[in-house]
Amino acid sequence: MIIAIDGPAAAGKGTLARRLAEHFGFAYLDTGSLYRAVGLAVLRAGKSPTDVVAATEISVDLDRRLFSDPDLRAERTGNAASAVAAIPEVRYNLLEFQRKFARTPPDDKKGAVLDGRDVGTVVCPDADLKLFVTAGPHVRARRRFLEIEGRGEAADFEEILTDVRARDERDMNRADAPLKPAEDALLLDTSELDIDAVFLRAVALVEERLKPQ
Ligand code: DC
Repeated sequence: MIIAIDGPAAAGKGTLARRLAEHFGFAYLDTGSLYRAVGLAVLRAGKSPTDVVAATEISVDLDRRLFSDPDLRAERTGNAASAVAAIPEVRYNLLEFQRKFARTPPDDKKGAVLDGRDVGTVVCPDADLKLFVTAGPHVRARRRFLEIEGRGEAADFEEILTDVRARDERDMNRADAPLKPAEDALLLDTSELDIDAVFLRAVALVEERLKPQ
């Protein structure tokens, strides 16, 4: 079983995907971390995230150690990820890894949950369940703000809101695999619903699909 969860930054899709994977014993892939790893490596190489040649070269042979790098989750890395993700060559180089993970999940798991921006539309168009998790920009910026403050770091709400909007703009308007719900995706708006309610709704949807037809 393949579950595709897409949506904009800070909509709650990562938390939902992780909880679903844990609940059903499925493998979990945060596809954003692949783009983040490319973005981080580009920054560390002293290059611009819009440098097509540098980003493409790095994405061919991605250093796996970057997935556990403490800077992977930084805002700066997220913005660099969004920029390298607009490069078609980078997307192409990361595609097969994601498809393989979905088709043959590690540790012989019986299913995979992938979250990102184009899982339901491009990576796994045949996924058994597609969810599009979203929330208004203010709600998402507020979540980011609380998360950063929670880590004991300084946070500026207006700056975060500007960042969230810029990232939406870039992710939704790029030519290759833009962020958008697949036609057969179910929309879950987390502006009003809390994560437990969203999780229970998603569990019910998965169980429905697991039932023998
Ligand atoms: O979900 P995230 O914030 O970790 O993603 C970082 C960036 O990576 C995001 O702004 C766009 C890009 N991305 C993508 O283009 N396609 C995906 N499937 C996942 C992430």
